[in-house]
Amino acid sequence: MIIGVLKEPEFEKRVSILPEAVKTLKKLKADIFVKKGAGERAYASDEEYAEAGAKLLDINKVIEKSDVLLSINKPGENVLKSLKKGQIVISVFNPMGEEKSVRSLLKSDQTYFSMDMIPRTTRGQAMDILSSMATVSGYKAVLDAAMHLPNFFPMFMTAAGTIRPAKVLILGAGVAGLQAIATARKLGAVVEAFDVRSAVKEQVESLGGKFVEVEGAVEDAAAGGYAVEQTEEFKAKQKQLIHDHAAKSNVIICTAQIPGKRAPLLIEKATVQAIHPGSVIIDLAASSGGNCELTENAKTVVKHGVTIVGKSDYPTDMPNDASRMYGNNLVNFLKLLIDENGGLKLDFEDEIVSGTCMIHENQLMNEQLQQLYG
Ligand code: NAI
Repeated sequence: MIIGVLKEPEFEKRVSILPEAVKTLKKLKADIFVKKGAGERAYASDEEYAEAGAKLLDINKVIEKSDVLLSINKPGENVLKSLKKGQIVISVFNPMGEEKSVRSLLKSDQTYFSMDMIPRTTRGQAMDILSSMATVSGYKAVLDAAMHLPNFFPMFMTAAGTIRPAKVLILGAGVAGLQAIATARKLGAVVEAFDVRSAVKEQVESLGGKFVEVEGAVEDAAAGGYAVEQTEEFKAKQKQLIHDHAAKSNVIICTAQIPGKRAPLLIEKATVQAIHPGSVIIDLAASSGGNCELTENAKTVVKHGVTIVGKSDYPTDMPNDASRMYGNNLVNFLKLLIDENGGLKLDFEDEIVSGTCMIHENQLMNEQLQQLYG
């Protein structure tokens, strides 16, 4: 089997696999063709890929020769148009939020896997790119907040007096939120966290955070651990409590999301007005609408003296380790598609293979997508 590595678009610094992952794939008897310069922005040179056993080629050759093509961002139109019949593309298509793109790909003759659809099961954990990238985001969001904040994070007792520790409020205690709690605690901040899922209380507390509870949340075991839409009464109660806690915080990290839906609006304009000037809001949910009413996606704005960073693409700012994690997840997934002789096997009986497959033979394969678009 020949695996091709595409170069990501200009705005992206990550690459789907680093040279170390090439070595692992070679051991599985796969051949790897990498587009020249694909790893440059992630600090992986063509020489390192070659040393690891990859062949460096121009894009046309990579597409022409590969059975499977890898990328992080959906390949551009020029690549999609030149694909061969039966070729496999493994990327992140965000199919739940991109109906038009899914319908257009359904008409093509290729098989598409979307890494953001890896089932969130115990077995799927080693391939879960959403968790990997959320880990990077939670960590980076806190560091970015610390850089913007005109105050220290830790408490200091100095000859010049005592400096109080920063108060950090985390909205949403999923993977990114828990990483943000851990990072903020390591920097010495006092941390509080909100989530609609009561199951995370223990996790928040084990990381040294205080869990702020709003009673009456709707939880749905069938949602696979994800949050679901809340009642209007709950939302009103939650808004008030968040308002009270936000007003006393120096930093707010927003991570609350509901798959396939607009992110819940948790911080209204009035709350921003009540927050002390100089405080910082990092809104990781910016690309799905934002948790803060005044967030502007992909922008840093100052409103009522509060710096609001609308940023959902922190992983590209840490391209080396983010590529390492993405690549490791990808290699673990590819192991399911490579047989003992290095050939391709597509076993749709395997729930991870079928769950991650978006389109095969012009059919939607993932059950959620079938329900959504079928
Ligand atoms: P996410 O990115 O979809 O959402 C982030 C957090 O926001 C979630 O904890 C969610 O409950 C919370 N949230 C949503 N609406 C909210 C609201 N109105 N107010 C406050 N908080 C709100 O979540 P993520 O990080 O992708 O994880 C979701 C679930 O998946 C978790 O239960 C996690 O443990 C589970 N998971 C399972 C894995 C596996 O078994 N392979 C891997 C990773 C996560």
